[in-house]
Amino acid sequence: MVISQSNQSSLKKSSIKENLIHAFVECRAKTLELFQNMDEATFCRQAHPDFSPVGWHLGHIGYTESLWILQRTAALPCLFPQYRKLYAADGLPKNQRVKLPSLKQTRHYLDTIRDKVLNHMEKTDLEHQEGLWRFLLQHESQHSETISFVLELIKFQLSEDEKENSSHLSNFSSPLLPNPLNEMIQIPEGEFEMGSNSLDALDNERPRHKVYLDTYSIDRYPVTCKQYRVFIEAGGYKNAQWWSEAGWEWLYKEQVTQPLYWQDNPAWYNHPVSGVSWYEAEAYAKFVGKRLPTEAEWEKAASWDEKLKCRRIYPWGDKQPTPENCNYSNIHNHTTPVNAYPAGKSAYGLYDTLGNVWEWTASWFDGYQGFQHYPYKGYSQVYFDNQHRVLKGGSKATRAWALRCSFRNWYHPGVRQIFAGFRCAA
Ligand code: AVJ
Ligand code: FE
Repeated sequence: MVISQSNQSSLKKSSIKENLIHAFVECRAKTLELFQNMDEATFCRQAHPDFSPVGWHLGHIGYTESLWILQRTAALPCLFPQYRKLYAADGLPKNQRVKLPSLKQTRHYLDTIRDKVLNHMEKTDLEHQEGLWRFLLQHESQHSETISFVLELIKFQLSEDEKENSSHLSNFSSPLLPNPLNEMIQIPEGEFEMGSNSLDALDNERPRHKVYLDTYSIDRYPVTCKQYRVFIEAGGYKNAQWWSEAGWEWLYKEQVTQPLYWQDNPAWYNHPVSGVSWYEAEAYAKFVGKRLPTEAEWEKAASWDEKLKCRRIYPWGDKQPTPENCNYSNIHNHTTPVNAYPAGKSAYGLYDTLGNVWEWTASWFDGYQGFQHYPYKGYSQVYFDNQHRVLKGGSKATRAWALRCSFRNWYHPGVRQIFAGFRCAA
């Protein structure tokens, strides 16, 4: 059968639509999984002043979908206007987001919006809107990741209350064997392509551009608990020598002595360290005579195919992630050893660049040359303030929609609640 041009393009359109609807449904199911059997106290609990309760994030996901699709695209009136102030990103300060509708009410809110959204999706021509829909998938994915780490934080706080001062380092002393996981890879000088122009790319990933880098070395693996333990045991948290001025000040204020999600258990030694601030990463790197990679160095090592002179979407190529490639999307709900995914290696041979833990980089978050905000200034641009460091790679809680080498995350350097570790460069 001969398929005419116009038939072909309408076939393509309908499959774009089907894919999107499928993705929306799948993404929402994953989000709601996080709320299974949740009690109202957890739903409304503010685990940390910098992070809203998980129930707020759920409502905000619905609000954002309704704002961009129902109001801005379909020109429908605001549903549940009584929630606008509560759920708008710039509505209430974070510490006033604890008086929330119940989980049941929030689900009703989300379901009502989603009904209308799917309805609109069926009727509309998505051709020039696909980017917006893809943005929303990533928006939901990112808030779901926040929900995941806030839940982890709550679990962690409750277990801390129980065991009051469980001396983490005890007298356990492991032989400090030369660690094969210490290995570095040399990345030869040359140009590579950074960022992305794909439909999925968020405003801060655009435009794709060429960057030249001198030769550098970068760790094959993220820093493991076993490696980091050496720093703790050597009194790393007590010695100003390893800390920058800002880092030392931060440490003094926070009085921390170990990573937030630290477990001193040999079973975790080959897992990446998780729950460190940028300052802790910086101090450790100095302790071992290295430094943090810039985001360009990280991205080149993770995505550039030197032989073919082309960038890969994922370290392993352009095929979407599967559970063989890396630890993502809460498949395991815990970190995995840094060498667990040979099928996730980059062309240069780096392991574990995507998934498991985010990796702090030395770079401040900023726009690439030619940056244009989308869909609103407050998404990225207001954070180009030399106050936020870039993280790359995604974590065990990052959904596939936000998992790619060009993706950029950003947080204040003192934040340690996210699932963040790092690898070093030299
Ligand atoms: C990129 C993860 C820092 O959660 O604050 C969500 C993403 N922006 N809604 C955040 C975001 C607007 C953002 N991070
Ligand atoms: Fe948001």
